[in-house]
Amino acid sequence: GGLITLDRGFKNTGSCESAITFLNGEQGILRYRGYSIEDLAENASFLEVAYLLIFGELPSQQELDKFHQDIKDESYVDEEMKKILDGFPRSAHPMGVVSSLTSALIAFNPSSVDVSSEEDMYKSIVKILAKFPVLCAWALRKRTGQPLDYGDSSLGYVENILKMMFKKANEDYKINPVVASALNKLLILHADHEQNCSASTVRIVGSSHAGLFVSISAGVAALWGPLHGGANQAVIEMLEGIKEDGGDSKKYMQKAKDKEDPFRLMGFGHRVYKNFDPRAKIIKKSADEVLGDLGIEDPVLDIAKGLEKEALEDDYFVKRKLYPNVDFYSGIIYRALGIPTEMFTVMFALGRLPGWIAQWREMRLMKEPIGRPRQIYTGENHRPYVDIDERH
Ligand code: CMC
Repeated sequence: GGLITLDRGFKNTGSCESAITFLNGEQGILRYRGYSIEDLAENASFLEVAYLLIFGELPSQQELDKFHQDIKDESYVDEEMKKILDGFPRSAHPMGVVSSLTSALIAFNPSSVDVSSEEDMYKSIVKILAKFPVLCAWALRKRTGQPLDYGDSSLGYVENILKMMFKKANEDYKINPVVASALNKLLILHADHEQNCSASTVRIVGSSHAGLFVSISAGVAALWGPLHGGANQAVIEMLEGIKEDGGDSKKYMQKAKDKEDPFRLMGFGHRVYKNFDPRAKIIKKSADEVLGDLGIEDPVLDIAKGLEKEALEDDYFVKRKLYPNVDFYSGIIYRALGIPTEMFTVMFALGRLPGWIAQWREMRLMKEPIGRPRQIYTGENHRPYVDIDERH
């Protein structure tokens, strides 16, 4: 081997070529397959965006209808999966439950691992797009003690997610179009973000040819952490904490700047965006609209806005180019939509699913080699073996 370059956290290493998502951190540009995130968030449905990310083109109506029908036809989850869910304590975090159930899916669909043709790949893709939302809804229903249910095939993909999650036993569930449209937008904004921690995880697990479902399960696990998708839950908990502490955001700014204190301002900073996060701009505007439309006043929104303003004027944040990211305002919207805090990161996962699939598919189609980084060894040189009674 030649000289190995050390790049902790892969800050400067390209792991692949990709034609899916374009991101310019200096200018705050994000495009899926060439379409700007602003246009997609404003005009498209989440399922169209999923199709676009995975297959490269926006679908015609006919292509979209077929895609949706194929997904509906696969929305069944084996009844035995419910026993696995039963085994979890009610208090289990839904991200762990969803990751485990996604991995367990493979036991009921063993043939989905073999993806030697594009046709096989398509089958696996449609299966996971269909079953993953069911598992996410089950994770929530388990927590809230509601009976498990399957989807309603008369509904759109996003509306169906809402109904699967929130329909109470013996009650009609009416889709609120404001809620559905806000969720549609949020899912689109989260749908892909090139080689982030979870997408890289999906690619590296998939690169051993382990199959799509377990690769997605690993992606969910990676997303869970508070430095990645878990930030959306952490942001709301932080804002709540500030509120309960009397609303003194300056104190928390100080904590975030103190290098002895592990506290970070959650929802701030990004590995790639060093100017602004275009998703955060759209979400901030959307938060105002959604809360307005639903007639909700959330004092936490004011705390968030105050905190943002202070940080944008603060030397520490300015010097390090730390701006609010996608997760800073998303939690406020999720909460307004009636989604419980511990489900926020699951909502992110629902949005990111098409991105993970697209990354995995591209990786397999390009016949990428197994992902296997190198290291710089810093341990002991060769040592003679010492017998146990001679060790001290
Ligand atoms: N609060 C306070 N200081 C921060 C923050 C923050 N949120 N983010 C970065 N810094 C500081 C960091 O301490 C370091 O300072 P110094 O140069 O003095 O050592 C400097 O800024 C650079 O930070 P870094 O940790 O080297 O940057 P990174 O690219 O490794 O980390 C990040 C990026 C997103 C993990 C980080 O900014 C962070 O922890 N943010 C808070 C968590 C968060 O909101 N995550 C969601 C990210 S966006 C959606 C997603 O990926 O899921």
